[in-house]
Amino acid sequence: MAPQFTPRVFSGIQPSGGLTLGNYLGALKRFVEMQDSGMETIYCLVDLHAITDKWQEPERLRQQTREAAAAFMAAGIDPVRSILFNQSQVSAHAELAWIFNCVARLGWMNRMTQFKDKAGKNAENASLGLYAYPSLMAADILSYHATHVPVGEDQKQHLELTRDIAAKFNHDYGIEFFPMTEPVIEGVATRVMSLRDGTKKMSKSDPSDQSRINLSDDADTIAQKIRKARTDAEPLPEAMEGLKDRPEARNLVTIYAALAGTTPEAVLAEFAGQGFGSFKPRLADLAAATVGPITAEMTRLMADPAEIDRILGRGADRADAIARPILQKTYDIVGMIRSR
Ligand code: TYM
Repeated sequence: MAPQFTPRVFSGIQPSGGLTLGNYLGALKRFVEMQDSGMETIYCLVDLHAITDKWQEPERLRQQTREAAAAFMAAGIDPVRSILFNQSQVSAHAELAWIFNCVARLGWMNRMTQFKDKAGKNAENASLGLYAYPSLMAADILSYHATHVPVGEDQKQHLELTRDIAAKFNHDYGIEFFPMTEPVIEGVATRVMSLRDGTKKMSKSDPSDQSRINLSDDADTIAQKIRKARTDAEPLPEAMEGLKDRPEARNLVTIYAALAGTTPEAVLAEFAGQGFGSFKPRLADLAAATVGPITAEMTRLMADPAEIDRILGRGADRADAIARPILQKTYDIVGMIRSR
């Protein structure tokens, strides 16, 4: 009979730049909800993933990792109730990733759309790490036998690969060892789009800062970015159907709904017939009211970087205590001698 796995949540964010409103609405806000629901929650700043794409200036990477940790806590992650740590401090991730590199097939990796997007036309020049990225992500999750992984829409394919890796490992070794992780892609804002182009996702790596709202932006910057956000000249329609071919308008309505904790339909019921001249200032106020307190708390926490490092260290100790025995058992299943 298949073993029962205790419900356990794991998720991660790359500290490869400041966090955006997309990260907040699509991921971080959900992380807090899951923590507050009383589930066991493990959250990780994936610094090993952050070096797969572009070269990162070392001191800046350290700073961004601390800033991301501060953003988590400012958004409501409690490092006592949740485990909060940076990936490289728990070596089980990298060790299990190696085993998974030997389980995952090249054909599977070749289908990963994020690799194709990030590597672009010059795939020959992409790092081997970028190619193996989803295998490390599977190791992040399965090092904890995590059962639920809250993410935005863009990570769906990576989570399917995680299930494929778990299933192949279990099959190859004839043991139900790794769980079939459930992706949790829920809520209204699973894919927040760029403010400049409603067909592209809002991303910390977009060259244009105008394309995104950063969790570190002040109220004036947020208002200015929303004022300049691309839209059309039509008033807002009465139903979502009317936004079908209006990606920018749909995005702003979705962001409003996510910030207000309501549905896009309810937002349209309130604003139908109005133009962006009246909608945008209301959206800017709402965004500033959400982001403002987070930014203020981040600034307060960042004043004591040593304390953030201590919190990450304690989180890593707790994470290691869960991951180490699972890794040991994996080595044992695979046939590695463990005699020290
Ligand atoms: P990353 O760092 O790109 O993004 C972190 C989380 O934010 C979500 N997200 C968005 N959601 C809605 N709209 C957007 N515009 C938007 N942009 C980002 C992402 O879906 C993600 O949930 N590979 C992962 C990090 C990772 C991970 C893991 C996640 C590494 N190991 C294990 C879960 C479990 C990534 O690059 O996310």
